[in-house]
Amino acid sequence: MGQPTATPDSVNSLTVHDNRTGKVYNIPIVDNSIPATAFKTIQAPRAPGEREENETEKGLRVSDKGFLNTAVLRSEITFIDGDAGILRYRGYPIEQLALHSSHLETAYLLIYGSLPTKPQFKIFETEVLHHGVTHADAEQFCRSFRYDAHPMAILTSAFAYLGSYYGEANPSLQGQSLYTRGNAASLEIMDKQIYRLIGKATTLAAMAYRVRQGREFVTPPTGLSYTGSFLYQMDHLGEENYTPNPILEKALDVLFLLHADHEMNASSTTVLQTGSSLVDPYSAIAAGCASLYGPLHGGANEAVIRMLISIGKPENVPAFLEAVKKREKVLSGFGHRVYKTSDPRSFIVRKTADEVFKITGKDELLETAMALHAAAMKDEYFIKRKLAPNVDFWSGLIYRAMGFPLDFFPVLFAVPRVVGWLAHWRQMMLQEGGVKIWRPRQIYVGASKRDYVPIDERVAVEGLRKGPSAISHSG
Ligand code: ACO
Repeated sequence: MGQPTATPDSVNSLTVHDNRTGKVYNIPIVDNSIPATAFKTIQAPRAPGEREENETEKGLRVSDKGFLNTAVLRSEITFIDGDAGILRYRGYPIEQLALHSSHLETAYLLIYGSLPTKPQFKIFETEVLHHGVTHADAEQFCRSFRYDAHPMAILTSAFAYLGSYYGEANPSLQGQSLYTRGNAASLEIMDKQIYRLIGKATTLAAMAYRVRQGREFVTPPTGLSYTGSFLYQMDHLGEENYTPNPILEKALDVLFLLHADHEMNASSTTVLQTGSSLVDPYSAIAAGCASLYGPLHGGANEAVIRMLISIGKPENVPAFLEAVKKREKVLSGFGHRVYKTSDPRSFIVRKTADEVFKITGKDELLETAMALHAAAMKDEYFIKRKLAPNVDFWSGLIYRAMGFPLDFFPVLFAVPRVVGWLAHWRQMMLQEGGVKIWRPRQIYVGASKRDYVPIDERVAVEGLRKGPSAISHSG
């Protein structure tokens, strides 16, 4: 592979002719992909005047800012066809799962690869719900945040905090092959952390919610579904026979299932990048949670509602769209790196919204959202760029109708996504050949070698971004 040859040795290969050296290389194509490492063998002498930092003699580098076309692993979990608007978990279309399955059953499917039998599901569900309880000290931890802390700040920190309880689950303490051995003992430890993380995700999220509301914490109940228990932990205020509204419980479950995984999105990639150092899963999940928080990812559902509030009413939509086209504003909830026609989840969410509104009444922002949607879908700017609503465009309206505070929306994305993060993390720990640390390359374009200048002899380098900013100080 990569050795200079004159003719391709197979149909499934790429022939590369390096015009710098005249050499020809055959690079194998496997599963319609080429190994980036093969390009490292394409070496050339440095051209006169070329920077040494280009490392030309060390082989070609593959440049892909923002991972636009880089496959970082082989996966059996989720398939997306962005042009056809297809999403499948382990081969099952998302529409079928949303109709027939539940979030926890889908979690089993995503993590272990097949739909569980009744007894298998019973064990899984019991373990996850059993592990919902946190140590009483976690209450103090959550209470240590300020009353106006963003709940994602609490949740992200809480996942890392949680890891401090489980020394037996920490490869730094127990040996780096703790999760990669793949034997029964190793799998048992891995699965226990999976139960704990999925089980406690709702508990920690509910605690973040209650801190904000100034409510006492509630011990996870028994006898309720995963989402039923979550609603109970947030809403229960001492009623004797509290049961969550079954339609809202089902709606939240469908939303959880839709958010459970989405292959190599920013947060899942972060979990894998972090996990590739063989850190404990709590730290890796905390990193994923932080990545999800951003407005280009899981923070978009919150951003959509803030945007709709700022637009105010349908009459203001045209002016808003003009501002988007001038790049003065962002149309949150539209566009996707992968989906270029439609996000299949958005149709299911739209349908679920109607179910929820039957109970809660229509959200006052719905009309503005529909006007915005209709106008954007026939606007040349959005058509040309293949921008359609993503899952977040409608989900925020449901969360708002259900009474969740705005800044809690990303939490409602992060909790179910714990499942996908863990499915990818588990797959990577057990992958053939072991775990390779994720260490990408860069193209260094900075200063070439220069000598240290004593401070008295320096000339100031000034300008925006060329030094620290002067900041104003209050009080
Ligand atoms: N509003 C207006 N223009 C947009 C939008 C948008 N929401 N999204 C993309 N564009 C434009 C870009 O400006 C760019 O235009 P140009 O080619 O003239 O410069 C073009 O469409 C292509 O967009 P990119 O930014 O290159 O697309 P990318 O794949 O890098 O980004 C992203 C995808 C981040 C989702 C982007 O569409 C976006 O910012 N959307 C709004 C935020 C959002 O809804 N995020 C949620 C994503 S889904 C999820 O995480 C569940």
